[in-house]
Amino acid sequence: MKIALGCDHGGLNIKNAVIEYLKAKNVEFTDFGCYTEESVDYPLYAYKVAKAVTENDDTLGILCCGTGIGISMAANKVKGIRAAVCTNEFMAEMTRRHNNSNIICMGGRIIDEDTAVKLADLFINTEFEGDRHTRRVDMITAIEEENFSI
Ligand code: RB5
Repeated sequence: MKIALGCDHGGLNIKNAVIEYLKAKNVEFTDFGCYTEESVDYPLYAYKVAKAVTENDDTLGILCCGTGIGISMAANKVKGIRAAVCTNEFMAEMTRRHNNSNIICMGGRIIDEDTAVKLADLFINTEFEGDRHTRRVDMITAIEEENFSI
């Protein structure tokens, strides 16, 4: 499992906390930026991470902005992405188990650094349950097939 990370200035602090956790656990990752607190536009980083996730079967994404919302909206415009905003441990676990999410989105102005690390850990280490949830995720994919041209 590899991780692709991205953030804007509003999510930099929690992204950096997650990176320290990944290093400690020897998890391979790519950090697509941003790297400073200078104000930047979150769709740029959402797109880079979303492409890395759709182009690599073994990669999950972690995106952070101020709320997690804008960056999730941008990521979900990429075909094949199921990006979920999570603010607590239950959401982080369930979005892997039931939605087969491939990107977790978190807000640096919503949760603290320790919580971000806990959510990232749950997200990375929880498997999709399949079964009846496969049918529902396939229905999401069918909507994409009908409405996305690329
Ligand atoms: C940036 O100020 C902020 O709008 C962004 O980080 C995010 O919260 C958007 O959804």
